[in-house]
Amino acid sequence: MNLYQRPRRNRKSSAVRAMARETVLSPSDFVYPLFLHDREDNESIPSMPGCTRWSLEGLVEEAGEAHALGIPCVILFPAIDSALKTPEAEESVNPEGLVPRAVRALKAALPSLVVITDVALDPYNSDGQDGLVVRGEDEVGEVLNDETVEVLCRQALCHAEAGADMVGPSDMMDGRVGAIRSALDHAGHEGVSILSYTAKYASSYYGPFRGALDSAPKDGDKKSYQMDPANIREAIRELRLDEEEGADMIMVKPAGPYLDVIAALRKETPLPLAAYQVSGEYLMIKSASAAGWLDEKAVILESLLGIKRAGADVILSYFAKEAARDLA
Ligand code: PBG
Repeated sequence: MNLYQRPRRNRKSSAVRAMARETVLSPSDFVYPLFLHDREDNESIPSMPGCTRWSLEGLVEEAGEAHALGIPCVILFPAIDSALKTPEAEESVNPEGLVPRAVRALKAALPSLVVITDVALDPYNSDGQDGLVVRGEDEVGEVLNDETVEVLCRQALCHAEAGADMVGPSDMMDGRVGAIRSALDHAGHEGVSILSYTAKYASSYYGPFRGALDSAPKDGDKKSYQMDPANIREAIRELRLDEEEGADMIMVKPAGPYLDVIAALRKETPLPLAAYQVSGEYLMIKSASAAGWLDEKAVILESLLGIKRAGADVILSYFAKEAARDLA
């Protein structure tokens, strides 16, 4: 045996491995998703052990701790009281609603923190769909596109007026990025960015999140607007539209089971690319670790590294704070 090529030489010590390392995770890669509700107390979320629905005060404190660990950005998901959920989702455009108040509180306390809001109707809509629903005579609901986009534009404006740095349309209606861009620009919010959920799949991994917000569709599913998990060319088509319509950053969601989509979009676009490690991915790691079957810390970092190696610049993860602490 005469081996001139010995790849193991680049693995021979921790210092050499550090020199040969291609991908490095940093706290600045993360966006920390935070749940909030309009109550005095913080409350743990039964469907997502380890996650909390924060009061406004708790939210500011948690975001401050994350920011101090080097996390640049949070994204907000409101649990809206069921009494405020209506078929027209009016609460989604209330300037005194939970999200605008939270944005104002966060920006006042932590001016350098980037605050993203979620633009979609599901937390506000008594149908639990991301858009407005009409029912035909057969009672099967249809999610309206253009009428929904009008409400999404008003919702984005309401968040921008409260001081959001970025809005994240997660609804998958056609044409919403362009419509939101022009609504923001007409109102003088040229500086507010759009993080588009470009390739958001109709995934079963969202179940625990819907439990956290009590936002599961009342009937049916979301397959008429979220993407078919079987498709990847369609993700490129959605990317082209989002680029044309003025998205500043794009997203693939979920992350772990869609690493090929992340890699494909990375090749196709110069825009910053985000990936969302969703609630079901979080819980697979949490539950296996709780059972003693996995080394939690190590698997968290490996799962995030894989998402970055596939091509994501930004990772939304419920593990953001834990991971940032481990990376410090
Ligand atoms: C809805 C929305 C969902 C998630 C983020 N925004 C769920 C859905 O589409 O039903 C899921 C996030 C997660 O599972 O962690 N606009």
